[in-house]
Amino acid sequence: MNSWVHQSMKRDFQRTIAIVNNKGGVGKTTSALNIASGLAMRGRKVLLIDIDPQANASLALLGPDVLNLPTSIYDVLLEEDKPLRDIITPTLIKDSIWFLHIRT
Ligand SMILES: Nc1ncnc2c1ncn2[C@@H]1O[C@H](COP(=O)(O)OP(=O)(O)O)[C@@H](O)[C@H]1O
Ligand SMILES: [Mg+2]
Repeated sequence: MNSWVHQSMKRDFQRTIAIVNNKGGVGKTTSALNIASGLAMRGRKVLLIDIDPQANASLALLGPDVLNLPTSIYDVLLEEDKPLRDIITPTLIKDSIWFLHIRT
């Protein structure tokens, strides 16, 4: 691991990592899932946010049950009084990765 990343992870502060590329199929979702897992394995608490309507990360972390969840980040974006905390979902990797999912 790059030493700058290693040093910054030792400190106790919140960091946001955005994985963005216009092109599809270049490994954004794969990178996001693996970075989230790697950070969780190093003891960090991770909130993974999926705002891609393809919902591949949502499906990978929550399985097909994601299709039955009543609300998603879609509702937070559209409804003024819908707080983000209402849709944070624990994942199978309990106490390490929480999730903001999107409804497909
Ligand atoms: N480092 C990699 N080496 C080989 N295949 C990869 C790698 N990263 C992603 N893939 C594969 O490439 C495809 C697209 O990856 P994905 O993460 O879904 O891209 P994106 O989210 O940018 O659309 C998937 O089938 C994934 O398994
Ligand atoms: Mg993707």
